[in-house]
Amino acid sequence: MESNVDMTETAKGRAAWSGRWAFVLAGAASAVGLGNLWRFPYLAAKYGGGTFLITYLILVFTFGISLVLLETALGRKTQQSTIGAFRSFGKKYGFIGFFCSLIPFIITPYYCVIGGWVTKYMAGYVVEGPDALADGGAFFSNFITSQEESFLWMFIFMAIVFIIVSLGVEGGIERVNLVMMPALIIMAVAIAIFTMTMPGALDGAAYYLVPDFSAVSPELFIGALGQMFFSLSIAMGIMVTYGSYLDKKSSLTKSVAQIGTFDFGVSFIAGMVIVPAAFVTLGSGEAVASNSGPSLMFITLPQVFDDMGGAAAPVGFAFFLLVLFAALTSAISLTETLVSIVMDGAHWNRKRSCVAVFIFLAVVGMFINMGYNALSFIEPLGEGSSLLDLADFISNYVMMPLAALMTCLFVGYVIKPKTLIDEIAISSPFKLRKAWTVMIKYIAPVLIVLILIFFIAQQFGLFAV
Ligand code: PHE
Repeated sequence: MESNVDMTETAKGRAAWSGRWAFVLAGAASAVGLGNLWRFPYLAAKYGGGTFLITYLILVFTFGISLVLLETALGRKTQQSTIGAFRSFGKKYGFIGFFCSLIPFIITPYYCVIGGWVTKYMAGYVVEGPDALADGGAFFSNFITSQEESFLWMFIFMAIVFIIVSLGVEGGIERVNLVMMPALIIMAVAIAIFTMTMPGALDGAAYYLVPDFSAVSPELFIGALGQMFFSLSIAMGIMVTYGSYLDKKSSLTKSVAQIGTFDFGVSFIAGMVIVPAAFVTLGSGEAVASNSGPSLMFITLPQVFDDMGGAAAPVGFAFFLLVLFAALTSAISLTETLVSIVMDGAHWNRKRSCVAVFIFLAVVGMFINMGYNALSFIEPLGEGSSLLDLADFISNYVMMPLAALMTCLFVGYVIKPKTLIDEIAISSPFKLRKAWTVMIKYIAPVLIVLILIFFIAQQFGLFAV
């Protein structure tokens, strides 16, 4: 990730952030993406709105930022990216870093598939017009069931990512993002306010905001946990690398809290747009819960835009353009990660690694696309599920919790929390060190194990929830 935003080379030749804000912005740019805008709202809609929101909020500000802190401190202390960071405490620990490094190989291909959907919708507002997109889902299903079309748009999205990565203009993109991100937030708030004027929307807002504790289930917990990893870009080593570029003067605690707040804020606003909109369209919380999945954003939002009359086309276009930007910065950070893993692992040069990663993404992405058409008979997680759901499930619900578990056990019991507490305390007083230690040593591992056990038991029907 050497070519990232505002990097300068240090005396030792290692890339470094130009300052604390560059680090916070890069962390936020990698965090804020489709996870916030596409994934969070449909999970909130699916798992009882307010109940999911509260669970997620608590998880992000306890467990989530503790792990971001752990990863960035580990990177800064060792001055290495993932695999090297774990290895520097003993060769045999390298496998934890290796395991974390596998996760972006599963996420990036399907991230590009959704990136393609976003690109298609943005273009759709110009080419097909807002009415065509707001037809209750037929447009969406025609699109994803057409193998050529869905592949073509994924390819366009990937091409943009690779052009940016190979030209090394991420710095420029990040700067554009400084304008685009606030624009996205302002626009999302405006659309949320517009949505509130639609009949029935206030009930939808209540569904989103008011917790209903009868909706609590192991599935909800693991959903919130997986979302937290995905959205904060943790448990896959990326924040370790980012931390390794940070100087010793910059406060880790402050930066981490800022990244977490920003990331949660964007998810919250996105949910505030999409969940009430789905409620208006579908009429009840139960209907929202049972109908939400990856397509939610692409079916409900066009209907909201369509109600805006003459403003529909420009608003729809601008909205998906902004989402595209958020998706691009995250996709770039994911792709850079893959390229650097291949460079280190295979000892290939950058160009060759880029080509290999591109081919990998195109092939795997094509299979995931085919999960909605030629291969739609494969329903890996039960009726109606797709290969994309499977990739999402394996990475977020299985591998990331395991990666986080190993990381916590490693820090808690092998290198000991003090090692990282000392690192964190170099740049700022670490008042919550006791709470953090308890989190890493006890709460987080126990929580992950419990959630996984309950979840697996539930999958196998060992008890009914
Ligand atoms: N956090 C990003 C999102 O929510 C996804 C991502 C994960 C990006 C890991 C970079 C690294 O969309």
